[in-house]
Amino acid sequence: MIFRQLFDSVSSTYSYLLASRLGGEALIIDPVLERTERYLQLIRELDLKLVKAVDTHLHADHVTALGALRDLTSCITVMGEQSGVDCVSMRVADGERLTIEGVSLEAIYTPGHTDDSYSFALADRVFTGDTLLIRGTGRTDFQNGDPRMQYDSIFNRLLKLPDETLVFPAHDYKGDTVSTIAEERAWNPRLQVKSVEEYVTLMNGLNLPNPKMMDVAVPANMRQGLAQEAIAARGWALTPAQWMAAEAAEALLIDLREPGERARHGVIAGSLHVPYPTLPENLARGGVLRGLAEASGKTLVFYCAFGERSAMAVRAAQDAGLATARHLAGGMNAWKQAGGAVQREAADPQPAG
Ligand SMILES: [Fe+2]
Repeated sequence: MIFRQLFDSVSSTYSYLLASRLGGEALIIDPVLERTERYLQLIRELDLKLVKAVDTHLHADHVTALGALRDLTSCITVMGEQSGVDCVSMRVADGERLTIEGVSLEAIYTPGHTDDSYSFALADRVFTGDTLLIRGTGRTDFQNGDPRMQYDSIFNRLLKLPDETLVFPAHDYKGDTVSTIAEERAWNPRLQVKSVEEYVTLMNGLNLPNPKMMDVAVPANMRQGLAQEAIAARGWALTPAQWMAAEAAEALLIDLREPGERARHGVIAGSLHVPYPTLPENLARGGVLRGLAEASGKTLVFYCAFGERSAMAVRAAQDAGLATARHLAGGMNAWKQAGGAVQREAADPQPAG
């Protein structure tokens, strides 16, 4: 596995680049805006294709690179299902898998530092965000933090992982880079408590100053901007009501989501499944989806979870010369809110060929 721990010295943030092989798909965890060029350079040098950018939680001490990486690489932006961040194109829930080619992380909901905090686990390591730090824990005094929930997240979730699991946090202020679950259980001063009450008292007594960047970082991280706004301005978006009223026979409806999302949230009847990462080969000359659109003369209508992946798909299809490409604004989320019918059994018809 390719594994890189990258450091932003201004905010003392660790970001992690993961891939299974040179030339393969890559994922980045907790990227920092000011380091974007460095990430892209490394991704080029390793001949990787960035397909997912993930934030463990809404950061208060630095601006995320999620929006910038989306704009520069058309990658999928991922956070937990509790996240209210606008640009998130895929939301994961506790127990779901976060997958790229050859790498599959388990999402573990670990609230407490914030109410949208997740950890992501591989077999031998866990990315703990600001939930569990090396010889510390993330503060719980803002952003809907809750020391009681954090105690539960740490003691009943993270410390239940195998002792030898490597702990990679989102920050370190002392220069440590990695720890283990056993080491933190034994030596993390915050974890030497006898009860949840003792932990709550300890955390509530910290009286920390707010992060320097907080007033800038939190609003910036909440509003990274939507890819679908530009698509709507070009007239390439359909609202759920417009799609319901449209002549569906004249269109090819394409579901860009992953199998897990389709199983969990259902599908719109009659849609073809073309996972978002396969779009470039599908839209290229000789690509299956391109061939299908050209042969049938039908409009391509993309949809996904929230309308962000599908907006980027419209852009890619238009760039590839498919002038009829449209998308369903707001995705499955908006479709359900508009009372659209949802098919539960995830029949998975593939484009012919
Ligand atoms: Fe944080």
